[in-house]
Amino acid sequence: MSFRIQPPAPARPNRCQLFGPGSRPALFEKMAASAADVINLDLEDSVAPTDKDAARANIIAAISDVDWGNKTLSVRINGLDTPYWYRDVVDLMEQAGERLDQIMIPKVGCAADIYAVDALVTAIETAKGRAKKINFEVIIESAAGIAHVEEIAAASPRLVAMSLGAADFAASMGMATTGIGGTQENYYMLREGAKYWSDPWHWAQAAIVAACRTHGVLPVDGPFGDFSDDEGYRAQALRSATLGMVGKWAIHPKQIALANEVFTPSEAAVTEAREILAAMEEAKAKGEGATVYKGRLVDIASIKQAEVIVRQSEMIANS
Ligand code: COA
Ligand code: MG
Repeated sequence: MSFRIQPPAPARPNRCQLFGPGSRPALFEKMAASAADVINLDLEDSVAPTDKDAARANIIAAISDVDWGNKTLSVRINGLDTPYWYRDVVDLMEQAGERLDQIMIPKVGCAADIYAVDALVTAIETAKGRAKKINFEVIIESAAGIAHVEEIAAASPRLVAMSLGAADFAASMGMATTGIGGTQENYYMLREGAKYWSDPWHWAQAAIVAACRTHGVLPVDGPFGDFSDDEGYRAQALRSATLGMVGKWAIHPKQIALANEVFTPSEAAVTEAREILAAMEEAKAKGEGATVYKGRLVDIASIKQAEVIVRQSEMIANS
């Protein structure tokens, strides 16, 4: 138990984060016209080292020139272990327009990584008199990141979202796979000769959700690499939603509709949640704390569960 009230995560739609390389400016208008809630223009791993300067310039121009509508606009900078990241931050903060909402910091390993970026961003924000405070999102994609996930979630009031980056995470952990998320052929239990596949990403996702919910940060599932496998993407996204994540990345436009479908509470789920709330209202009127709904127990905890679904649905409808 704790007397502290769990802080709410930001009430903004974050069902799909669409990525595109900063070195492919021809994609920017298409990204802006898409149905993704969040746009991530990338300076990091989808951009070759020789293209970093050009990609930075493309992104700075596009932040002002492209109509991004009401999307959350984020730029993924390079990691703190590279020679590029400080220039990413300085140029974005000094040259990009006020339309920029967020900076995504990849490969964070400890709270001090965020502190370092925060110090730089805060100084430039003040020096330049920027009116809008830049938010941060981070990617947990290393052994250190998952080991320190809770201190990272608490690292800065700027932090609004945290994603699991499956590919770098797998590499850092020494996992025997080249897959980016999804079912792993060799991760199974055997029973009477039959294989039952288990989910190797589960514990990292659950750790991220717990850290995020403790500190009022949005937990997000990262990339699913095989964009020809819609059912695989949907299965991964459904597992993430069930665990408490609010959205998932799209690394190709065909994944956007899949994410939006999974992370928008279905009509059936919302109807059931409202019926549970109504059943509990009736119970309360009779002075009861628990009742029966469709043959199963519902009680005061069920109100909170149902409210999660109704609130999410209303927030998306009003956005
Ligand atoms: N955002 C918006 N539109 C995109 C897009 C994106 N990320 N990727 C491709 N498209 C467009 C293409 O321009 C094409 O449009 P058209 O029909 O008008 O010609 C259409 O979607 C189909 O694209 P397709 O030919 O299937 O893909 P591609 O070969 O051009 O590119 C990838 C494939 C994977 C290289 C590309 O989608 C990509 O760069 N994805 C993001 C990678 C990234 O940012 N990674 C970092 C995070 S893990
Ligand atoms: Mg990565």
